[in-house]
Amino acid sequence: MKVLVTGGAGYIGSHTVVLLIEAGYEVLVFDNFCNSSRESIRRVEKIVNQEITVIEGDIRNRDDLRNVFEKYAISTVIHFAGLKAVGESVEKPLKYYDTNVNGSAVLFEVMAEHNCKSIIFSSSATVYGDPHTTPILENFPLFVTNPYGRSKLMVEEILRDIYVSDNEWKIVLLRYFNPVGAHESGTIGENPNGIPNNLMPFIAQTAVGKREILSVFGDDYDTKDGTGVRDYIHVVDLSRGHVQALERISSFRDPMTINLGTGTGYSVLEMIKAFEKVSEKKVPYKIVPRRAGDIATCFADPSYAKKVLDWEATKTIDEMCKDSWHWQSKNPNGY
Ligand code: NAD
Ligand code: UFG
Repeated sequence: MKVLVTGGAGYIGSHTVVLLIEAGYEVLVFDNFCNSSRESIRRVEKIVNQEITVIEGDIRNRDDLRNVFEKYAISTVIHFAGLKAVGESVEKPLKYYDTNVNGSAVLFEVMAEHNCKSIIFSSSATVYGDPHTTPILENFPLFVTNPYGRSKLMVEEILRDIYVSDNEWKIVLLRYFNPVGAHESGTIGENPNGIPNNLMPFIAQTAVGKREILSVFGDDYDTKDGTGVRDYIHVVDLSRGHVQALERISSFRDPMTINLGTGTGYSVLEMIKAFEKVSEKKVPYKIVPRRAGDIATCFADPSYAKKVLDWEATKTIDEMCKDSWHWQSKNPNGY
């Protein structure tokens, strides 16, 4: 069975490609490398000891996609390709709508043309906004506060509309919480451009000496220690969720919307402490004012994923920190 992985050279995509190949799937990677490099794929090839077919192309370009669907009989698409920086999306909303929404619509159109109607989509817990309570269930109200989040919600809705128009489609919407960690080999991992926006790469770069000090955004939230609480999930657990979804997608009737999180929230200070313990490095930090748009607490109720995907996260916070550190210390400058 041939699976097309858009954005397969990226952080979550590359880890998922490893697991898909290990599970016996034939994988094609489609990526324009705007936020990744071919080196991640070369390293994936080393892990799985096999060559990977990579097509350089843009999801917004019909011809790029048509060429792929004409050449290969693709049964399912796992759609990671997109832009993901919340701050940049506020500055450049059209860039986000063009890539994330228009690019996805072009992809779905070309899929339908070639009678490929099976898709797993990367959505985000950001669609829940500031939840009225935690843990977060899939049926909680949706509320988005920035163009990035809105683009994810729009694509969810586009896919639900496509299903209404043609119920042959098989659709899985996976809402990720906070992916962290790296492959245990330490050869692939998260490789942010410039100054990291996210906590874990910032901690790791501070521990390795690339950044002087971590800014902790606020210690006056209504949480256990006043700092923000999130559901950090090991990227390999997250990737395994995609393999489980792929194995079951043909048996699902309606579109499935599924949280992929651990169900446990950790504070910023707890993450720093756990990282310092496993890395045996100091992570200097200072408390600064809250970051605009941040919420106090966000963690999943992952019981639906357990029920319908027979999936649950198994990796601990120590493993997340250990693998992030392994990747960061082996690759201080990324790929
Ligand atoms: P990433 O940037 O590492 O990977 C995305 C990949 O898509 C990159 O390789 C990039 O080059 C490619 N890409 C971007 N625009 C493209 C285009 N027009 N055509 C073809 N390829 C294109 O990001 P990631 O962390 O691996 O995230 C993967 C997906 O998961 C994204 O859709 C993201 O929004 C979503 N997501 C990520 C997180 C997170 O915290 N990492 C959380 C929730 C959801
Ligand atoms: N934080 C800091 N200092 C930093 C970075 C982050 O204190 O330098 C704090 C934040 O305030 C927050 C926590 O660490 O309390 C996690 O922040 P991240 O930026 O790592 O993650 P977010 O939960 O803010 O955002 C992530 C993704 C978004 C996605 C959202 C919901 O980056 O794309 O999860 O899924 F929308």
